[in-house]
Amino acid sequence: MKQPSLRSLVFLSAGLLSLGAAQAMAASTSASPSTAMTPGVKQFVFGTLPDGRTVHGYRINSGGDVDMEVIDYGGIITSLKTPDRHGEKADIVLGFNSLQDYLSPAYKKLNPYFGALIGRYGNRIADGRFTLDGKTYQLATNDGPNHLHGGDEGFNQKLWQATPFSSSEGSGVVMRYTSADGEEGYPGELAVEVKYTLTHDDTLAIDYSARTTKATPVNLTQHSYFNLNGEGSGSILDHVMTIDAASYTPVNKTLIPTGEIETVAGTPFDFTQPTPIGARIEADNEQLMRGKGYDHNFVLAREPRPTLEHAARVSSPESGRVLDVLTTEPGLQFYSGNFLDGSVTGKGGQAYGHRSGLALETQHFPDSPNQSGFPSTILQPGETLESHTVYRFSTED
Ligand code: BGC
Repeated sequence: MKQPSLRSLVFLSAGLLSLGAAQAMAASTSASPSTAMTPGVKQFVFGTLPDGRTVHGYRINSGGDVDMEVIDYGGIITSLKTPDRHGEKADIVLGFNSLQDYLSPAYKKLNPYFGALIGRYGNRIADGRFTLDGKTYQLATNDGPNHLHGGDEGFNQKLWQATPFSSSEGSGVVMRYTSADGEEGYPGELAVEVKYTLTHDDTLAIDYSARTTKATPVNLTQHSYFNLNGEGSGSILDHVMTIDAASYTPVNKTLIPTGEIETVAGTPFDFTQPTPIGARIEADNEQLMRGKGYDHNFVLAREPRPTLEHAARVSSPESGRVLDVLTTEPGLQFYSGNFLDGSVTGKGGQAYGHRSGLALETQHFPDSPNQSGFPSTILQPGETLESHTVYRFSTED
């Protein structure tokens, strides 16, 4: 696989951003996806929601080594196939082949948000409550005492309007969703656009934008679970992680940040040098016990950054697959799949057990609406939220 330098990636992404509205490409419709991939986007019917609405899937290939599938329900990435060091492809994201599996009681009970777009507020808000311009808002408390990932019916459960496109950079789908004023208790009508671009050289660029009619907290992210040995192939504890973060935000017992920004030096949270995830995950460390493993926000910078910068690299010694994450966001939630418990079975027929996938969620910090020391997540009317993240896929020997 080609390995572009980080510098060229930043320029590439700048180019992508300046493309503006990419030319929509007419999508062909077929009842089920075929296996032969030609560059471009193919639309197919993925399933039908209980209320009768049709969910579409989009198979994306950009002429590179990566194939991707995304659906308009939740903007969920259902499949991402990349080659290992020998060129053998495997699907490296957890998920399902059928809509029924995303709607099943067992899945909803576990609620892992496989592959989904998350909003309005990715991560937790303490007690589901915040005060803005003198008014207190109460949101759903869907995670113990706290609000998590947008509430009872977050963006992960919405049917988005999808527009496939092909451009000189690659192919992809633009997802749009307008969240009504008051939805899930949040103020303001929020118009959200998320553009997935699979580029010719094996990067997935995710460009988020949003506008609101009233001041409101917004924290958008993507919740794919990766297993670089292939989904369903066991735990991710052998994966080697590097996170470009000198500090992280420790949490209380309900996983709300205490407000402190603590150095990672001398702790199991120090991933400034490549380290196997499993090396210290069972260490006698109160923060790890609270998260049942890694479930923490790493501080990439103190303020939102205008350009994409490298945030993390994870690699598998077994498969040789490498994932680099770049983002404009100030934070990265590294979640080691601690709540996966084997209660749901994935698309390959294997139960997804404890720590069988990991999420690297680019974001602002959890509970920012209640933490004056954290970068603000309040979007004002007239402003446009812009956020950019790149997942780059490659291999090493
Ligand atoms: C959170 C975890 C949570 C998971 C699935 C992650 O983003 O940090 O605590 O269990 O999402 O809900």
